[in-house]
Amino acid sequence: MPKHLPVLLLACLPLLAVAQDDPVERLLAQMTLEEKIGQLSQLTIQSTPTGPVIDQGEHTQMPVTLLGSVLGADTAQQTRQLQEQVVNGSRLHIPLLFAYDVLHGFRTVFPVPLALASAWDPDLAQRTARAAAVEATASGVHWTFAPMVDIARDPRWGRVVEGAGEDPFLGSALATALVHGFQGAGAPDVSSMLATAKHFVAYGAAEGGRDYNVADLSERTLREVYLPPFEAAVAAGVGAIMPSFNEVAAVPMHSHTKLLTALLREQWGFAGLLVSDFNAVWELAQQGIASTQADAARLAFNAGVDIEMASQSYRQHLATLVRKGQVSRKNVDDAVRRVLKAKQRLGLFDDPYRYSDEARERASQLTPQHRALAREAAQKSIVLLKNDSALLPLSKQPGKVLVVGSLASDASATIGPWSGAANPEDSVTVLQGIRNAVAPGTEIVYLPGASPTSPATPNITQVEQTARSSDVLIAVLGETAEQSGEAHSRAELGLPGGQAALLHTLLNTGKPLVILLMNGRPLVLDASVQQAPALLETWFLGSETGNAVADVLFGDINPSGKLPMTFPRHVGQIPIYYAHKNTGRPPSGDGSFASAYIDVPWTPLYPFGFGLSYTSFSYSSPRLSTTRLASTQTLEVEVTVTNTGKRAGDEIVQLYLRDDVASVTRPVRRLRGFRKIHLAPGESRSVSFFLSQQDFALLDEHFSPKVEAGGFTVFVGPDSTTANQAHFEVSDTRRLSDDQVDRR
Ligand code: GLC
Repeated sequence: MPKHLPVLLLACLPLLAVAQDDPVERLLAQMTLEEKIGQLSQLTIQSTPTGPVIDQGEHTQMPVTLLGSVLGADTAQQTRQLQEQVVNGSRLHIPLLFAYDVLHGFRTVFPVPLALASAWDPDLAQRTARAAAVEATASGVHWTFAPMVDIARDPRWGRVVEGAGEDPFLGSALATALVHGFQGAGAPDVSSMLATAKHFVAYGAAEGGRDYNVADLSERTLREVYLPPFEAAVAAGVGAIMPSFNEVAAVPMHSHTKLLTALLREQWGFAGLLVSDFNAVWELAQQGIASTQADAARLAFNAGVDIEMASQSYRQHLATLVRKGQVSRKNVDDAVRRVLKAKQRLGLFDDPYRYSDEARERASQLTPQHRALAREAAQKSIVLLKNDSALLPLSKQPGKVLVVGSLASDASATIGPWSGAANPEDSVTVLQGIRNAVAPGTEIVYLPGASPTSPATPNITQVEQTARSSDVLIAVLGETAEQSGEAHSRAELGLPGGQAALLHTLLNTGKPLVILLMNGRPLVLDASVQQAPALLETWFLGSETGNAVADVLFGDINPSGKLPMTFPRHVGQIPIYYAHKNTGRPPSGDGSFASAYIDVPWTPLYPFGFGLSYTSFSYSSPRLSTTRLASTQTLEVEVTVTNTGKRAGDEIVQLYLRDDVASVTRPVRRLRGFRKIHLAPGESRSVSFFLSQQDFALLDEHFSPKVEAGGFTVFVGPDSTTANQAHFEVSDTRRLSDDQVDRR
């Protein structure tokens, strides 16, 4: 025995003592391999599965007493019963984690994430996530699979509804806010949930906008566009990350060791859980990189996926893989330790039932406070796209009103996809909201006229006759909740079903027409939609849809939303986004040799950051603290914004930055700041932004972060097309360390 060994053992004693004091280590030391693999298995008990049911061969489902987590339980009674079954029925009494997709509410539903992103309001986002966590945890849910932080630049992809749109800076700000909202600030309490940043990574780059399709993109785009919101979520302390179904450049994300382990764990220091998506481990065989389910389990686990959701490749093969030495016991222990620590942090070892609280459930869900928050969030998510001749706001005594479109009375549409454990009946439809808002005695006629799911336009003659006898027409047009979200990609982006025909009929009457869009993605709004004098983007706004829409429609609220995603003129323009490159023959150039189309203008119909108000705002030219600074210095950019209209309003002031010349090509501009201000009529206010090295920085051709000397242009205005600009120089080139750059 080496002579120094006793000293070493003595030195290790304190560590061993600590380990034995730590309940997680004590538990781990007692667990059998099968019990450990149980902690790495998550089965679904969803009433409506969120993925395909697959044939898992001869094996029956793992007994619930062995499981580490369950997806789909959503009441205090159900979670308590299951927890009792597992805690009392298992050898080591390890409590379950209950997981659920709480994306934008639980019983009270808030605007879908793409709508909420239109409010450009991280504080509001955090408050809605907090309220959702309070409701879900009362029902015993410990773990949400949210926020979805996938950047998306292709509205054909149905899941754009679940995220914050096309921009990494806005997306990162909202990712941070939502993680803090779900997990709570400070030490976890009974309303804290484990949040999950998903789907890692570049899921929104699915080729053709076709869900689950390959993402074949450059390392640069991956680093500059798709990774930043995940880095922000990790920095915010997110408890879990879910890899995405897609491959990135021929490597499926569920077996991507370089991104799941080298980047996430080793470079970014992510210490939370990596949970697979639904059946995604099993699907590695479908993707053609695993010949057997044992192979799929080996590839996924060794790449870094801790927990397998829904499919049971881990349950069926991990033990054998360990015994064969193809999966290390240490890595299994590390993964199980992460699961046990998550349960420990949520207090489940102290009291496995602390979350499943029927009294708190009754007291905390669909409360007036949560409904008021849902209404506020919905109001702030509405984007005014057009308002010719100030048709809006309408009077509350508008005369005879015709409301058309099946979506006007579709409660399911108001709560959108991923509406948690909500009941549509608890939601206020647009029609109900209008009826609630108008003056008593106002005649409201409702005729569905057409729906997004059928080409039929029943009683179109009656619609036309009624329209001709009405004073104002309100058309609620767009998509149903089922035409948006997962596995609902669309190749056409116009108004589906018989809605376009209905619109033509309304336009032919020449009556004042307001279109309310209810949809989960940017749509292609054709010429007839553009003929309407007034156009509001209302997305899927949640439980208080009708009241919030009426608040804006009749002027109690002045709309302030701004688009988080570009609206194309034509589906052929996709992908189209504001932070594009100039090219050697800029599309904005004149002459025929320009990067443009011969049949459609190259510009979007409505640009990123666009949104009107019932008032108007003017901007001074940007004032700079200096026009030349060192890379280590900070630049102040100040503008004065004035409310030049007749009513108070909120304006989301946006700052964009362009690196005019660099060693690699740079976008024509990138969002680097935004601020929402409230101005009374005639009021002016100065708004300041501060730019520093992390704003000037770029990744050079070798992906090393640096600031390069040279000229920059800063733009400050109401949307991403503003020409309100100023120029400055950075005097020196300097390399930065990784932690000096936030790649948003
Ligand atoms: C789905 C989704 C994922 C969700 C999971 C559990 O397939 O891709 O976002 O969290 O399954 O419902």
